[in-house]
Amino acid sequence: MNIEKILKEISEIINSNQNRNDILQSVAKLLKTEVAHYNWVGFYIFDKQSQTLILGSYVGKATEHTHIPIGKGVCGQVAQNKQTMIVQDVSAIDNYIACSLDVLSEIVVPIILNNEFVAEIDIDSHAQAPFTSADKELLEQIALMLTHLFV
Ligand code: SME
Repeated sequence: MNIEKILKEISEIINSNQNRNDILQSVAKLLKTEVAHYNWVGFYIFDKQSQTLILGSYVGKATEHTHIPIGKGVCGQVAQNKQTMIVQDVSAIDNYIACSLDVLSEIVVPIILNNEFVAEIDIDSHAQAPFTSADKELLEQIALMLTHLFV
């Protein structure tokens, strides 16, 4: 994966005159296209009132998990702990919400605004243990670049 190219293209998407959903859709599409082990890329947005994660823009197979309570699954745990979670083998953890049998691993990165959790990037992979610190660094950098969309 070409991190420099991805970050440059993400800057261009952010600086284009699109609304938040369209920006997130373009970012999801770019990541899925550029990184071979990203098979599903989406954003869950935190709804404070219902304390629920609501699926926003995504690229990949449709999922029935459009609403996830805080604490549930990998996504819900990241919302609670505000820390990136890498799951190299989804069959090894209990608190996991399966979307598709093809998914073997997952990385979820929080988007934080003024110390508050506002959204997250969720990526599913069909590869076994594909994630390295490069994925974490790339996605955390992107999360920082997207923070201002949630003001
Ligand atoms: N696997 C996630 C649920 C969301 S799907 O991956 C799209 C979880 O355990 O939270």
